[in-house]
Amino acid sequence: MTIASVAERKAVNTSEPLLLNAVRGEDVERPPVWLMRQAGRYMKAGLYNHKSLISYQDICQKHPSFRERSENVDLVVEISLQPYKVFKPDGVILFSDILTPLPGMNIPFDIVKGKGPIIFDPISTAADVDKVREFTPQEWVPYVGEALTILRKEVNNEAAVLGFVGAPFTLASYCVEGGSSKHFSKIKRLAFSQPKVLHALLEKFTTSMAKYIQYQADNGAQAVQIFDSWATELSPTDFEEFSLPYLKRIVNTVKQTHPDLPLILYASGSGGLLERLPLTGVDVVSLDWTVDMAEGRKRLGSDIAVQGNVDPGVLFGSKEFITNRIHDTVKKAGKGKHILNLGHGIVVGTPEENVAHFFEVAKGLRY
Ligand code: CP3
Repeated sequence: MTIASVAERKAVNTSEPLLLNAVRGEDVERPPVWLMRQAGRYMKAGLYNHKSLISYQDICQKHPSFRERSENVDLVVEISLQPYKVFKPDGVILFSDILTPLPGMNIPFDIVKGKGPIIFDPISTAADVDKVREFTPQEWVPYVGEALTILRKEVNNEAAVLGFVGAPFTLASYCVEGGSSKHFSKIKRLAFSQPKVLHALLEKFTTSMAKYIQYQADNGAQAVQIFDSWATELSPTDFEEFSLPYLKRIVNTVKQTHPDLPLILYASGSGGLLERLPLTGVDVVSLDWTVDMAEGRKRLGSDIAVQGNVDPGVLFGSKEFITNRIHDTVKKAGKGKHILNLGHGIVVGTPEENVAHFFEVAKGLRY
Protein backbone atom coordinates (compact mmCIF):
# COMPACT_ATOMS: atom_id res chain seq x y z
CA MET A 1 0.00 0.00 0.00
CA THR A 2 1.31 3.51 -0.83
CA ILE A 3 1.92 6.16 1.83
CA ALA A 4 -0.74 8.34 0.20
CA SER A 5 -3.40 5.67 0.51
CA VAL A 6 -2.53 5.09 4.16
CA ALA A 7 -2.85 8.82 4.82
CA GLU A 8 -6.22 8.89 3.07
CA ARG A 9 -7.64 6.34 5.47
CA LYS A 10 -9.63 7.87 8.27
CA ALA A 11 -8.28 7.47 11.80
CA VAL A 12 -9.88 4.50 13.49
CA ASN A 13 -12.69 5.33 15.90
CA THR A 14 -12.03 3.09 18.90
CA SER A 15 -15.36 3.80 20.59
CA GLU A 16 -17.28 2.29 17.67
CA PRO A 17 -17.60 -1.43 16.93
CA LEU A 18 -14.93 -2.87 14.60
CA LEU A 19 -17.61 -3.85 12.07
CA LEU A 20 -18.72 -0.24 11.58
CA ASN A 21 -15.14 1.02 11.30
CA ALA A 22 -14.35 -1.65 8.72
CA VAL A 23 -17.42 -0.85 6.59
CA ARG A 24 -16.54 2.85 6.66
CA GLY A 25 -13.07 2.14 5.30
CA GLU A 26 -11.18 3.04 8.45
CA ASP A 27 -7.78 1.56 9.18
CA VAL A 28 -8.79 -1.60 11.07
CA GLU A 29 -6.36 -4.27 12.26
CA ARG A 30 -8.40 -7.27 11.07
CA PRO A 31 -11.69 -8.00 9.33
CA PRO A 32 -14.68 -8.18 11.68
CA VAL A 33 -16.43 -11.56 11.74
CA TRP A 34 -19.95 -12.88 12.33
CA LEU A 35 -21.95 -15.74 10.84
CA MET A 36 -25.27 -15.66 9.05
CA ARG A 37 -27.87 -17.60 11.06
CA GLN A 38 -25.39 -17.72 13.92
CA ALA A 39 -28.27 -18.03 16.41
CA GLY A 40 -30.04 -21.32 16.24
CA ARG A 41 -30.20 -24.94 15.61
CA TYR A 42 -26.54 -25.96 15.27
CA MET A 43 -26.14 -24.93 18.92
CA LYS A 44 -26.77 -28.20 20.68
CA ALA A 45 -27.32 -28.93 24.36
CA GLY A 46 -24.19 -28.26 26.43
CA LEU A 47 -22.93 -25.34 24.38
CA TYR A 48 -19.28 -25.35 23.48
CA ASN A 49 -17.28 -24.35 26.56
CA HIS A 50 -20.40 -22.87 28.17
CA LYS A 51 -22.18 -25.82 29.77
CA SER A 52 -24.10 -23.46 32.04
CA LEU A 53 -26.00 -21.67 29.26
CA ILE A 54 -29.46 -22.85 28.25
CA SER A 55 -29.17 -24.08 24.66
CA TYR A 56 -31.39 -23.17 21.69
CA GLN A 57 -32.57 -26.81 21.71
CA ASP A 58 -33.73 -26.45 25.33
CA ILE A 59 -35.57 -23.25 24.47
CA CYS A 60 -37.22 -25.00 21.48
CA GLN A 61 -38.49 -27.78 23.75
CA LYS A 62 -40.03 -25.29 26.14
CA HIS A 63 -41.30 -22.99 23.38
CA PRO A 64 -41.94 -25.19 20.33
CA SER A 65 -43.41 -22.42 18.18
CA PHE A 66 -40.90 -20.42 16.12
CA ARG A 67 -43.25 -17.46 16.19
CA GLU A 68 -43.31 -17.51 19.98
CA ARG A 69 -39.52 -17.74 20.19
CA SER A 70 -39.11 -14.84 17.80
CA GLU A 71 -41.90 -12.60 19.11
CA ASN A 72 -41.16 -12.61 22.84
CA VAL A 73 -38.66 -9.96 23.95
CA ASP A 74 -36.92 -12.10 26.58
CA LEU A 75 -36.54 -15.09 24.26
CA VAL A 76 -35.37 -12.94 21.33
CA VAL A 77 -32.72 -11.32 23.52
CA GLU A 78 -31.61 -14.61 25.02
CA ILE A 79 -31.35 -16.42 21.66
CA SER A 80 -29.58 -13.48 19.98
CA LEU A 81 -27.03 -13.36 22.80
CA GLN A 82 -26.27 -17.12 22.86
CA PRO A 83 -23.71 -17.08 20.04
CA TYR A 84 -22.35 -13.79 21.33
CA LYS A 85 -21.67 -15.24 24.79
CA VAL A 86 -20.08 -18.36 23.35
CA PHE A 87 -18.09 -17.07 20.35
CA LYS A 88 -17.84 -13.25 20.79
CA PRO A 89 -18.53 -12.43 17.13
CA ASP A 90 -18.16 -8.81 15.97
CA GLY A 91 -21.83 -8.69 14.94
CA VAL A 92 -24.89 -9.73 16.96
CA ILE A 93 -27.88 -10.34 14.69
CA LEU A 94 -31.40 -10.02 16.04
CA PHE A 95 -33.17 -13.37 16.34
CA SER A 96 -36.21 -12.88 14.12
CA ASP A 97 -37.27 -13.75 10.59
CA ILE A 98 -37.74 -11.89 7.34
CA LEU A 99 -41.42 -12.97 7.54
CA THR A 100 -42.01 -11.48 11.01
CA PRO A 101 -43.64 -8.27 9.65
CA LEU A 102 -46.21 -10.19 7.55
CA PRO A 103 -49.06 -10.54 10.11
CA GLY A 104 -48.82 -6.76 10.63
CA MET A 105 -49.42 -6.42 6.89
CA ASN A 106 -52.48 -8.69 7.11
CA ILE A 107 -50.61 -11.74 5.77
CA PRO A 108 -50.78 -14.50 8.42
CA PHE A 109 -48.02 -17.10 8.37
CA ASP A 110 -46.41 -19.80 10.45
CA ILE A 111 -43.11 -21.68 10.35
CA VAL A 112 -43.75 -25.39 10.54
CA LYS A 113 -41.03 -27.79 11.63
CA GLY A 114 -39.84 -29.83 8.66
CA LYS A 115 -41.84 -27.72 6.19
CA GLY A 116 -40.55 -24.19 6.65
CA PRO A 117 -42.66 -21.05 6.19
CA ILE A 118 -46.38 -21.41 5.34
CA ILE A 119 -48.48 -18.45 4.14
CA PHE A 120 -52.09 -19.35 4.92
CA ASP A 121 -53.74 -17.29 2.13
CA PRO A 122 -51.29 -16.93 -0.76
CA ILE A 123 -51.65 -13.79 -2.86
CA SER A 124 -52.68 -14.14 -6.50
CA THR A 125 -55.01 -11.29 -7.48
CA ALA A 126 -55.26 -7.50 -7.37
CA ALA A 127 -57.97 -7.88 -4.72
CA ASP A 128 -55.54 -9.91 -2.56
CA VAL A 129 -52.93 -7.16 -2.91
CA ASP A 130 -55.53 -4.53 -1.90
CA LYS A 131 -55.97 -6.37 1.39
CA VAL A 132 -52.25 -6.05 2.23
CA ARG A 133 -51.73 -3.31 4.81
CA GLU A 134 -48.79 -0.92 5.04
CA PHE A 135 -46.60 -1.93 7.96
CA THR A 136 -46.38 0.16 11.13
CA PRO A 137 -43.56 -1.48 13.09
CA GLN A 138 -44.16 0.21 16.46
CA GLU A 139 -47.74 -1.05 16.43
CA TRP A 140 -47.14 -4.62 15.19
CA VAL A 141 -43.65 -5.63 16.29
CA PRO A 142 -42.86 -3.56 19.40
CA TYR A 143 -40.90 -6.57 20.69
CA VAL A 144 -38.35 -6.05 17.88
CA GLY A 145 -37.61 -2.48 19.00
CA GLU A 146 -37.50 -3.49 22.65
CA ALA A 147 -35.18 -6.43 21.97
CA LEU A 148 -32.83 -4.29 19.85
CA THR A 149 -32.65 -1.67 22.60
CA ILE A 150 -31.76 -4.30 25.20
CA LEU A 151 -29.22 -5.96 22.88
CA ARG A 152 -27.54 -2.64 22.24
CA LYS A 153 -27.13 -2.11 25.99
CA GLU A 154 -25.93 -5.67 26.65
CA VAL A 155 -23.44 -5.67 23.81
CA ASN A 156 -22.27 -2.15 24.68
CA ASN A 157 -20.42 -1.47 21.42
CA GLU A 158 -18.14 -4.51 21.85
CA ALA A 159 -19.87 -5.79 18.71
CA ALA A 160 -22.33 -4.22 16.28
CA VAL A 161 -26.02 -5.01 16.76
CA LEU A 162 -27.44 -6.03 13.39
CA GLY A 163 -31.04 -5.77 12.27
CA PHE A 164 -32.44 -7.22 9.06
CA VAL A 165 -35.37 -7.19 6.67
CA GLY A 166 -36.51 -9.19 3.65
CA ALA A 167 -36.34 -7.48 0.26
CA PRO A 168 -39.62 -6.85 -1.60
CA PHE A 169 -39.15 -9.54 -4.26
CA THR A 170 -38.14 -12.21 -1.73
CA LEU A 171 -41.07 -11.39 0.57
CA ALA A 172 -43.42 -11.38 -2.43
CA SER A 173 -42.11 -14.79 -3.50
CA TYR A 174 -43.13 -16.32 -0.13
CA CYS A 175 -46.53 -14.59 -0.20
CA VAL A 176 -47.37 -15.63 -3.77
CA GLU A 177 -45.87 -19.13 -3.67
CA GLY A 178 -47.41 -19.79 -0.23
CA GLY A 179 -44.04 -20.82 1.21
CA SER A 180 -40.64 -21.96 -0.01
CA SER A 181 -40.49 -22.87 -3.67
CA LYS A 182 -38.42 -24.79 -6.15
CA HIS A 183 -39.40 -23.35 -9.50
CA PHE A 184 -41.00 -20.05 -8.46
CA SER A 185 -43.69 -20.72 -11.05
CA LYS A 186 -46.50 -18.86 -9.27
CA ILE A 187 -44.61 -15.61 -8.81
CA LYS A 188 -43.25 -15.84 -12.34
CA ARG A 189 -46.75 -16.43 -13.70
CA LEU A 190 -47.83 -13.27 -11.87
CA ALA A 191 -44.75 -11.31 -12.97
CA PHE A 192 -45.02 -12.30 -16.61
CA SER A 193 -48.81 -12.26 -17.05
CA GLN A 194 -50.03 -9.60 -14.58
CA PRO A 195 -46.96 -7.47 -13.82
CA LYS A 196 -49.09 -4.59 -12.47
CA VAL A 197 -50.43 -6.79 -9.69
CA LEU A 198 -46.93 -7.86 -8.64
CA HIS A 199 -45.65 -4.27 -8.86
CA ALA A 200 -48.48 -3.13 -6.56
CA LEU A 201 -47.42 -5.75 -4.01
CA LEU A 202 -43.73 -4.84 -4.34
CA GLU A 203 -44.65 -1.17 -3.74
CA LYS A 204 -46.27 -2.06 -0.44
CA PHE A 205 -43.25 -4.08 0.69
CA THR A 206 -40.93 -1.24 -0.38
CA THR A 207 -42.52 1.47 1.77
CA SER A 208 -43.06 -0.98 4.61
CA MET A 209 -39.49 -2.34 4.69
CA ALA A 210 -37.96 1.16 4.42
CA LYS A 211 -40.00 2.08 7.50
CA TYR A 212 -38.97 -1.13 9.21
CA ILE A 213 -35.26 -0.45 8.67
CA GLN A 214 -35.69 3.07 10.06
CA TYR A 215 -37.54 1.65 13.06
CA GLN A 216 -34.79 -0.92 13.72
CA ALA A 217 -32.10 1.77 13.49
CA ASP A 218 -34.04 4.11 15.79
CA ASN A 219 -34.23 1.35 18.38
CA GLY A 220 -30.62 0.20 18.41
CA ALA A 221 -29.63 -1.57 15.17
CA GLN A 222 -26.19 -0.29 14.08
CA ALA A 223 -26.32 -1.87 10.63
CA VAL A 224 -29.15 -3.57 8.74
CA GLN A 225 -28.90 -6.46 6.29
CA ILE A 226 -31.41 -6.73 3.45
CA PHE A 227 -32.02 -10.32 2.38
CA ASP A 228 -33.03 -10.68 -1.27
CA SER A 229 -32.43 -14.41 -1.10
CA TRP A 230 -34.57 -15.28 -4.11
CA ALA A 231 -33.82 -12.32 -6.42
CA THR A 232 -31.30 -14.54 -8.12
CA GLU A 233 -34.14 -16.68 -9.45
CA LEU A 234 -34.73 -13.75 -11.81
CA SER A 235 -32.87 -13.21 -15.06
CA PRO A 236 -30.82 -9.98 -15.04
CA THR A 237 -33.50 -8.25 -17.16
CA ASP A 238 -36.25 -9.28 -14.77
CA PHE A 239 -34.12 -8.38 -11.75
CA GLU A 240 -33.93 -4.88 -13.23
CA GLU A 241 -37.72 -4.74 -13.35
CA PHE A 242 -38.85 -6.60 -10.22
CA SER A 243 -36.10 -6.15 -7.67
CA LEU A 244 -33.48 -3.47 -8.38
CA PRO A 245 -35.77 -0.39 -8.47
CA TYR A 246 -37.38 -1.37 -5.18
CA LEU A 247 -34.06 -2.00 -3.46
CA LYS A 248 -32.85 1.39 -4.73
CA ARG A 249 -35.91 3.09 -3.30
CA ILE A 250 -35.49 1.43 0.09
CA VAL A 251 -31.83 2.48 0.24
CA ASN A 252 -32.64 6.06 -0.88
CA THR A 253 -35.42 6.44 1.66
CA VAL A 254 -33.31 5.12 4.53
CA LYS A 255 -30.24 7.16 3.54
CA GLN A 256 -32.35 10.35 3.74
CA THR A 257 -33.06 9.80 7.44
CA HIS A 258 -30.10 7.60 8.44
CA PRO A 259 -27.17 8.54 6.16
CA ASP A 260 -24.59 6.77 8.36
CA LEU A 261 -26.44 3.48 8.83
CA PRO A 262 -24.56 0.76 6.91
CA LEU A 263 -26.85 -1.32 4.70
CA ILE A 264 -25.74 -4.81 3.68
CA LEU A 265 -27.33 -6.64 0.74
CA TYR A 266 -27.38 -10.42 0.52
CA ALA A 267 -28.68 -12.45 -2.40
CA SER A 268 -27.68 -16.10 -2.57
CA GLY A 269 -26.22 -17.24 -5.89
CA SER A 270 -25.71 -13.65 -6.99
CA GLY A 271 -22.71 -14.24 -9.31
CA GLY A 272 -24.67 -13.41 -12.46
CA LEU A 273 -26.02 -10.19 -10.96
CA LEU A 274 -22.90 -8.95 -9.20
CA GLU A 275 -22.29 -5.75 -11.21
CA ARG A 276 -25.92 -4.74 -10.66
CA LEU A 277 -25.91 -5.07 -6.86
CA PRO A 278 -23.88 -1.88 -6.10
CA LEU A 279 -26.45 0.05 -8.19
CA THR A 280 -28.83 -0.36 -5.24
CA GLY A 281 -26.67 2.09 -3.24
CA VAL A 282 -25.96 -0.32 -0.36
CA ASP A 283 -22.69 -0.04 1.56
CA VAL A 284 -21.84 -3.75 1.67
CA VAL A 285 -22.51 -6.66 -0.69
CA SER A 286 -22.52 -10.09 0.90
CA LEU A 287 -21.09 -12.72 -1.45
CA ASP A 288 -21.87 -16.41 -1.45
CA TRP A 289 -19.09 -18.92 -2.10
CA THR A 290 -19.77 -19.53 -5.80
CA VAL A 291 -17.89 -16.30 -6.55
CA ASP A 292 -14.14 -16.08 -6.02
CA MET A 293 -13.54 -13.29 -3.48
CA ALA A 294 -10.78 -11.62 -5.52
CA GLU A 295 -12.90 -11.66 -8.69
CA GLY A 296 -15.95 -10.49 -6.74
CA ARG A 297 -14.01 -7.52 -5.37
CA LYS A 298 -12.92 -6.53 -8.86
CA ARG A 299 -16.40 -6.83 -10.29
CA LEU A 300 -18.01 -4.85 -7.46
CA GLY A 301 -15.55 -1.94 -7.55
CA SER A 302 -13.48 -0.48 -4.74
CA ASP A 303 -16.08 1.85 -3.18
CA ILE A 304 -18.21 -0.89 -1.76
CA ALA A 305 -17.39 -3.17 1.18
CA VAL A 306 -17.75 -6.95 0.84
CA GLN A 307 -18.98 -9.58 3.24
CA GLY A 308 -18.50 -13.33 3.05
CA ASN A 309 -17.77 -15.63 1.41
CA VAL A 310 -16.68 -18.89 3.02
CA ASP A 311 -18.71 -21.97 2.00
CA PRO A 312 -20.75 -23.01 5.09
CA GLY A 313 -19.68 -26.58 4.23
CA VAL A 314 -16.09 -25.66 5.08
CA LEU A 315 -17.12 -25.84 8.75
CA PHE A 316 -17.49 -29.62 8.29
CA GLY A 317 -13.81 -29.84 7.31
CA SER A 318 -10.72 -30.29 9.48
CA LYS A 319 -9.45 -27.44 11.63
CA GLU A 320 -6.50 -27.01 9.29
CA PHE A 321 -8.80 -26.83 6.27
CA ILE A 322 -10.96 -24.21 7.98
CA THR A 323 -7.88 -22.15 8.89
CA ASN A 324 -6.58 -22.27 5.32
CA ARG A 325 -9.91 -21.18 3.84
CA ILE A 326 -10.14 -18.24 6.23
CA HIS A 327 -6.65 -17.09 5.26
CA ASP A 328 -7.41 -17.53 1.57
CA THR A 329 -10.64 -15.50 1.77
CA VAL A 330 -9.10 -12.69 3.81
CA LYS A 331 -6.10 -12.47 1.48
CA LYS A 332 -8.34 -12.33 -1.58
CA ALA A 333 -10.58 -9.68 -0.01
CA GLY A 334 -7.57 -7.46 0.66
CA LYS A 335 -7.08 -5.01 3.50
CA GLY A 336 -10.14 -3.21 4.84
CA LYS A 337 -13.80 -2.98 3.82
CA HIS A 338 -14.29 -6.71 4.43
CA ILE A 339 -16.57 -8.46 6.91
CA LEU A 340 -15.57 -12.10 7.19
CA ASN A 341 -18.66 -14.33 7.11
CA LEU A 342 -20.07 -17.46 5.53
CA GLY A 343 -21.58 -17.29 2.06
CA HIS A 344 -24.95 -18.37 3.45
CA GLY A 345 -26.43 -19.45 6.78
CA ILE A 346 -24.64 -21.91 9.00
CA VAL A 347 -25.90 -25.44 8.35
CA VAL A 348 -27.71 -27.51 11.00
CA GLY A 349 -25.34 -30.22 12.22
CA THR A 350 -22.20 -28.04 11.96
CA PRO A 351 -19.85 -29.09 14.79
CA GLU A 352 -19.81 -26.31 17.37
CA GLU A 353 -16.10 -26.78 18.03
CA ASN A 354 -15.46 -25.94 14.37
CA VAL A 355 -17.52 -22.78 14.73
CA ALA A 356 -15.41 -21.90 17.77
CA HIS A 357 -12.26 -22.58 15.72
CA PHE A 358 -13.52 -20.34 12.90
CA PHE A 359 -13.98 -17.44 15.32
CA GLU A 360 -10.64 -18.06 17.09
CA VAL A 361 -8.69 -18.01 13.84
CA ALA A 362 -10.63 -15.03 12.50
CA LYS A 363 -10.15 -12.97 15.63
CA GLY A 364 -6.43 -13.78 15.76
CA LEU A 365 -5.82 -12.40 12.25
CA ARG A 366 -3.89 -9.18 11.72
CA TYR A 367 -3.53 -7.41 8.38
O1 CP3 B 1 -28.97 -15.03 11.38
C1 CP3 B 1 -29.54 -15.21 12.47
O2 CP3 B 1 -29.03 -15.86 13.41
C2 CP3 B 1 -30.86 -14.50 12.74
C3 CP3 B 1 -32.00 -15.26 12.49
C4 CP3 B 1 -32.62 -15.45 11.10
C5 CP3 B 1 -33.64 -16.41 10.92
N1 CP3 B 1 -34.11 -16.26 9.65
C6 CP3 B 1 -34.10 -17.32 11.96
C7 CP3 B 1 -34.75 -18.57 11.52
C8 CP3 B 1 -32.43 -14.78 9.88
C9 CP3 B 1 -31.44 -13.69 9.51
C10 CP3 B 1 -33.40 -15.29 8.97
C11 CP3 B 1 -33.59 -14.78 7.59
C12 CP3 B 1 -34.39 -15.55 6.64
N2 CP3 B 1 -35.56 -16.23 6.88
C13 CP3 B 1 -34.12 -15.65 5.25
C14 CP3 B 1 -32.97 -14.98 4.54
C15 CP3 B 1 -31.71 -15.72 4.69
C16 CP3 B 1 -31.58 -16.92 3.80
O3 CP3 B 1 -31.56 -18.03 4.34
O4 CP3 B 1 -31.48 -16.76 2.57
C17 CP3 B 1 -35.12 -16.45 4.68
C18 CP3 B 1 -35.20 -16.84 3.21
C19 CP3 B 1 -36.03 -16.80 5.70
C20 CP3 B 1 -37.28 -17.60 5.59
C21 CP3 B 1 -37.22 -18.81 6.44
N3 CP3 B 1 -37.37 -18.82 7.80
C22 CP3 B 1 -36.99 -20.14 6.02
C23 CP3 B 1 -36.73 -20.57 4.61
C24 CP3 B 1 -37.02 -20.95 7.19
C25 CP3 B 1 -36.92 -22.44 7.30
C26 CP3 B 1 -35.50 -22.84 7.35
C27 CP3 B 1 -35.36 -24.30 7.71
O5 CP3 B 1 -34.33 -24.84 7.34
O6 CP3 B 1 -36.22 -24.85 8.43
C28 CP3 B 1 -37.23 -20.09 8.28
C29 CP3 B 1 -37.27 -20.48 9.71
C30 CP3 B 1 -36.16 -20.00 10.54
N4 CP3 B 1 -35.80 -18.70 10.65
C31 CP3 B 1 -35.32 -20.78 11.37
C32 CP3 B 1 -34.44 -19.90 12.01
C33 CP3 B 1 -33.38 -20.22 13.03
C34 CP3 B 1 -35.40 -22.29 11.53
C35 CP3 B 1 -36.56 -22.69 12.37
C36 CP3 B 1 -36.26 -22.87 13.85
O7 CP3 B 1 -35.14 -22.68 14.34
O8 CP3 B 1 -37.20 -23.20 14.54
